[in-house]
Amino acid sequence: MEAEYDSMADEYDATRESATQTEIDALAKSLEGCRTVLDVGVGTGRFAKPLSEIGFEVTGMDVSRRMLAKAREKRLERLLLGDAYKMPFRDKSFDAAIIIHVLHVVVDWSTVMRDLGRVTRGHVMSILRVPQRATTPPSPAIGNPVPGPRTGYPVRTQHRMWQNELELKARVPPLKLERIRDETITIPVADALRSMQAKRAMGAQIIPPEVKQQMLERIISMAGVQSVQRRVVEDLAVWGADDLQALDLGSPPGSG
Ligand SMILES: C[S@@+](CC[C@H](N)C(=O)[O-])C[C@H]1O[C@@H](n2cnc3c(N)ncnc32)[C@H](O)[C@@H]1O
Repeated sequence: MEAEYDSMADEYDATRESATQTEIDALAKSLEGCRTVLDVGVGTGRFAKPLSEIGFEVTGMDVSRRMLAKAREKRLERLLLGDAYKMPFRDKSFDAAIIIHVLHVVVDWSTVMRDLGRVTRGHVMSILRVPQRATTPPSPAIGNPVPGPRTGYPVRTQHRMWQNELELKARVPPLKLERIRDETITIPVADALRSMQAKRAMGAQIIPPEVKQQMLERIISMAGVQSVQRRVVEDLAVWGADDLQALDLGSPPGSG
């Protein structure tokens, strides 16, 4: 994981949306009354930076040195190299914690969330993407997509893209689950291509590499198409630290 994100660090911000004002406002509202906030998997500081700018004392921890170096370039001060499976903090060290776009990359999410519950006094928060079916809008230039050998690939079952978040919500129902975003964003084709190419460095995730290549070729062949549209739906989830710390209690044997 460290190496994967090390290799992505240079491209990460250029191929991701910045944190939106809506996301920051929603987090800030739920963090009201807190001072110290742990950001696990802080990455380049996409969320830690704006939260520290509005007064929270954010400590960012990440397993990737190069992602942390990018965060440091943004003048974030409290940064440390560390593994979410073995957090180097005493019990109840932070008023609150955030873990954003990290749950899907950790295999044993229950260990991570239980330990987050341990090191936090109050609430643990995440922004959860609500999976949307991919759509290709009909284009006057190319007409409707014709089903063929390039479509209909099954999603890889071993990949846990959304599964960890769904399991977490089912096993520990959040104290609050608030829809904070539902919008369709338009991305220039050049940016979509750049982002897909950068993510190829991440290895085979949800889409087999050969299918990704075909997708790239298909987009390139869409002469005249300037942009692609994507619906983004997000929920802010807030858990009680004590509920997370009790995560293993009562869970079925072998789960998590
Ligand atoms: C998709 S990025 C999200 C970064 C940031 N939270 C954001 O939303 O921009 C996932 C981050 O989690 C980090 N990460 C993955 N596994 C980790 C672990 N076991 N402990 C700490 N950080 C981890 C990666 O290095 C990477 O920076």
